[in-house]
Amino acid sequence: MPIRSDGKRYFLEGNQTAYVLAVRDDKLVEHLYWGPKLPLDTDYPEADRNPSFAFENPQGLVPLEYPAWGGLRFSEPCLKVEFPDGCRDTRLVFEDAAILPHDEAGQPHLVIRLVDTAYPLRVELHYRLYEALDLIERWAIVSNAAAADPGGMAPEPGAIRLEQVFSACWNLPAGTPYCLTHLAGRWGGETQLRHDLLSEGKKVLESRRGATSHQANPWFALTPAGTAVGVDLAAAGTAVPPWPELGRPTGEEDGPVWFGALAWSGSWKIVVEATPYAQTQVLAGINDFDTVISLGPGEKFTTPACVAGYTEGGFGSMSRTLHRYQLQHVLPPAGARQVRPVLYNSWEATYFAVNEQQQMELAEKAARLGVELFVVDDGWFGRRQNDRAGLGDWYVNPEKFPRGLGPLIDHVHRLGMLFGLWVEPEMVNPDSDLYRRHPDWVLHVPGRPRTESRHQLVLNLARSEVRQFILDFLDRLLSENSIDFIKWDMNRHFSEPGWPDEPREHQREIWIRYVEGLYQVWDELRARHPKVLWESCSGGGGRVDLGILRRADQVWTSDNTDPFDRLFIQEGYSYAYSPKTMVCWLTDSPHWGNQRASSLRYRFHVAMTGTLGIGANLNHWSPAEMEEARALVAQYKAIRHLVQEGNLYRLISPRAGELAALEYVNEDASEAVLFVFLHSRKRLWPVPPIRLRGLSPERVYSLAVEEGRLHGPRRLSGRALMAWGLSLNLQGDFDSVMVHLKAE
Ligand code: GLA
Repeated sequence: MPIRSDGKRYFLEGNQTAYVLAVRDDKLVEHLYWGPKLPLDTDYPEADRNPSFAFENPQGLVPLEYPAWGGLRFSEPCLKVEFPDGCRDTRLVFEDAAILPHDEAGQPHLVIRLVDTAYPLRVELHYRLYEALDLIERWAIVSNAAAADPGGMAPEPGAIRLEQVFSACWNLPAGTPYCLTHLAGRWGGETQLRHDLLSEGKKVLESRRGATSHQANPWFALTPAGTAVGVDLAAAGTAVPPWPELGRPTGEEDGPVWFGALAWSGSWKIVVEATPYAQTQVLAGINDFDTVISLGPGEKFTTPACVAGYTEGGFGSMSRTLHRYQLQHVLPPAGARQVRPVLYNSWEATYFAVNEQQQMELAEKAARLGVELFVVDDGWFGRRQNDRAGLGDWYVNPEKFPRGLGPLIDHVHRLGMLFGLWVEPEMVNPDSDLYRRHPDWVLHVPGRPRTESRHQLVLNLARSEVRQFILDFLDRLLSENSIDFIKWDMNRHFSEPGWPDEPREHQREIWIRYVEGLYQVWDELRARHPKVLWESCSGGGGRVDLGILRRADQVWTSDNTDPFDRLFIQEGYSYAYSPKTMVCWLTDSPHWGNQRASSLRYRFHVAMTGTLGIGANLNHWSPAEMEEARALVAQYKAIRHLVQEGNLYRLISPRAGELAALEYVNEDASEAVLFVFLHSRKRLWPVPPIRLRGLSPERVYSLAVEEGRLHGPRRLSGRALMAWGLSLNLQGDFDSVMVHLKAE
């Protein structure tokens, strides 16, 4: 049984790992263990360990599964409430538990029910185990049980105010310091990897922006402290307690990693806390900042899920696990197993100045390259000539498309491609008919300025009429036109998040109700138009998370399409998210941003390590470039199943030096593809042999690679490829090679 109990302890065992909790004699639910699976039940620790330090209550230091604020407890809680009579002290104790062999997702599931000792507050802790992946999804359901308990314990009926309600608290083995790996960034520079050495205190990763954000991403990984490169722990003063670090630093393919991610597309928070007692806990959930949920009698609130796992196979194993989880359990099932089409997007070619004739011509060129999905980006609707007007007016611009979208769509379909369209449903320009009609539909605070960003305001999706408006216009657009793909954009974050029409006690729920509204609209549209493919975009990669990936088939990774920058952005992205979801366009050279020049092949190769797209102005391409691009698109189609579905090995990080190498291997190791990138050759050093991973040592692989790139035979054993590697010829600046390997 993957989940079982010995009456006191609850064991959740995956193929390799175990997670153990226990009900103590004082009825607190204590976390006991999270690490490799052990042979005997007696191998796991027992409950009722009571650390003791002055100025602390032993109970206050117990690592709890779901700490609520109350008593003598000072570390970050999951739950902070105010009861109707003003009481702010919460004491959650065990009530009962249930083990479901198969829940609605077909997975083993544990429910732990907690109840407050004096008030009608109930909390259900949910644990869904993915045995084969060694992952646990956790969430909590908090309810005001007053109605269900008439005349019961409540001194006063009324609403319970939830001031903080996280999804989970993950406790790490105590007694040793950790390194936190996370993703930081900004527009044009998303998902940059950071390794921080944790000392006592809290490191808070968060978004207070209403959306997931480019600046931080709701994902974390914790490893032994020495992983933070170049840190002398003793010198850094982080050896708490004062003995050497337990365990070696973690690397790409070796060492322990505790990791997790939150399925939420609004303001979120991950608090990593190292206490003075060398306990480390990670709490994740909806951001409590400016958020209060008012739960009336009988009402409940369900948090988003937070998934977490443990591996001893380093960051590479962590990523492969998360990728597999997304393909098998997160992405919308309809498209999860289908390869993603090669797309063309007209944005960088034509910006807002789209029209029927010019898009038809671009479509013809794209079709010649082997493109399978042609996407018209911004500019096709309302009075949209630039970003100052038109958002909210979702009718086809009659000057640009006098015959509507029909003729262009037919043309694209006749060329053998799917047709896609850009929308930004959550936004409105003040210069729009929609805003003139409904100025109250935006987030705003009466009497305060309505701060614009990119000349736009945010529609309040917590309002039902706003949701209905979005649902109606998109439903009409998709019903009246044969549209196969929608790119759903969101180009600003929240300000003045007011909701003046709502009763005061619910106004601060707006942060949550907005996201729930967004999910509701998206889910309904998917149900009504099941064949449509959806892309999430927010000024590039501003909305990448496990919540949106339950609705979006893929994500626009970054507006920065400079291939060299992309190596770093895409590396960080791949730590947490599957390459199949990672849309990568190659665009023109020199790049509009960095003015860096690079070859067409290099730009293609970088984009081929995810879901390939082309965003260049094809009108500027020579016949020779068109021909080269056609061949590269064909090469991508021959290997994309490996990139999109295979196991990713980050052989050499672009951060490590002048080289980067990525390898993708299929499930039975019969096929693989290798990409090698040279940033810049220095001091005449030849490129060293690139050692592969994940192949089968006994098999012989034949290699397909561009002429003149390989030193040595085109036929090698898996053992040789992994032990000695491939000697490749790369030269100059921004050079690249792709090798396709097939077992004989
Ligand atoms: C955002 C997107 C771009 C493009 C523009 C259109 O910035 O990330 O890809 O769609 O909007 O305005």
